[in-house]
Amino acid sequence: MLDTLVRHTNMVRLSIGAVLVTLAVGCTGLIDGGNTSGTPEERAAKDAWINKALPRLVESCTACHSGQQANIDFLTGAGDMEIRDRIITYTPGVVNFDAPQSSRLVTKGPHNGPSFTVEQASDILDWLNAEKAAIPDPGDTGPTLITAKFSPQFCTSGDPGTATCPINTVDLAPLGVVGAKITFVAQALSSGLYLNNLSVEGATDGIYIELPLFTSYLESGTVVVDNIDRFFSVKMNLMANVKEQIAGGTAAFVGFGAGLNDKLEIRFKAVKAYQPDTGSGSGSGGGGGGGCKQLALFKTTAAGPLVANCASCHAGGANANAKSAMNIDGAGAADDATALLACNQVRTRINFIDTNLSGFFVAPNPGDPTNHMFKFGGNQANFNDFKAAVDPWVQAEKTSP
Ligand code: HEC
Ligand code: HEC
Repeated sequence: MLDTLVRHTNMVRLSIGAVLVTLAVGCTGLIDGGNTSGTPEERAAKDAWINKALPRLVESCTACHSGQQANIDFLTGAGDMEIRDRIITYTPGVVNFDAPQSSRLVTKGPHNGPSFTVEQASDILDWLNAEKAAIPDPGDTGPTLITAKFSPQFCTSGDPGTATCPINTVDLAPLGVVGAKITFVAQALSSGLYLNNLSVEGATDGIYIELPLFTSYLESGTVVVDNIDRFFSVKMNLMANVKEQIAGGTAAFVGFGAGLNDKLEIRFKAVKAYQPDTGSGSGSGGGGGGGCKQLALFKTTAAGPLVANCASCHAGGANANAKSAMNIDGAGAADDATALLACNQVRTRINFIDTNLSGFFVAPNPGDPTNHMFKFGGNQANFNDFKAAVDPWVQAEKTSP
């Protein structure tokens, strides 16, 4: 079921590409006739391409992406606008005007080539947003799918919901669904921002969300876009008064502001009331999607250290909060069916982009200032041993088809 969902999302991704092809053909004719033709938005898009995006691509990316290798030649072209036409029509898609921040171009990050610097990424995004604005409005002006910017309150100690550990609530009513909200606890990491208890819930209308994207607006004026498309597969469809975690309920955002005056914003591809026609009524938290694929390895490597260090709170009946955050009942079971449930649970906390940022590594790490109840008694070496024991399974899940 989850597998199908993920594959379905990939198809959605492709079909977004296909839509872009059509739009692009429609646009180019208008834009090409010199800088005085086209709508003001189209002229702004052209200007942003030539003066912002293209120079950035030329300085860091064309060396490898303009014809050297056939399947990645999205920057090939005789002139400035020819390159633009190619990049926006390229398949598999590297730009996504529906959600510019999730464009492959922006999210690719370090690979054989470099990742964009923050300044470069912001120029690229300016262009993508300008192109997005230039796409003719199909007529129905839907609700704005961007929350207001807000300053999260930080948890410094204690349990969520207490005075020192407030639960942040993002009201989705302004986006069209009364009573729906996203809630989370925010903590400052040395490397950025850590969210846990990240959930979505609806009221009587339920809630449907697709592809939440987080952006951080630092007090300094810098804008940091979540540069990994971690929630790309997130599509959640919840019936009335149901609350469910998003992608395992934890997310570490490297580079995000975690100061009192830094702000957050969440944008969505879709926010609607519960959609009865799409079936089951349960949601998918997504985030790498799918159940445990390496059960045998889980049982021989990860299960032992999880049971030894974590089961006292995360299994059985000792700590309801711990269990609702991550339930590893049966992790040590010999029979596959029982162990699989625990394996599935832990797997939803894997951060497949950077496995070091997986919830079960961040929460108990004495080196990360989270308020998690158990930090190996402050003993970094013991945590490192735990991580080293669990990691082979994590890496195997990551590379499993
Ligand atoms: C030194 C060569 C080199 C440079 C420079 C380079 N790339 Fe790449 N890029 C590659 C190779 C090789 C691949 C194919 C393998 C892969 O996907 O990692 C690739 C693939 C990609 C893909 C498509 C694959 C996907 O994941 O969808 C994107 C997007 C991309 N690069 C973006 C960039 C951007 C943006 C820059 C500039 C900031 C850049 N690259 C600079 C070598 C390079
Ligand atoms: C002493 C009890 C206790 C132990 C032992 C414990 N936890 Fe937790 N854990 C909790 C509680 C309580 C929560 C829920 C906190 C909340 O709701 O904010 C939690 C939450 C979590 C979460 C959710 C994310 C987060 O930051 O809240 C993860 C992941 C997690 N624990 C992993 C682990 C791992 C891995 C171990 C073993 C190495 C472990 N825990 C051991 C009590 C414990």
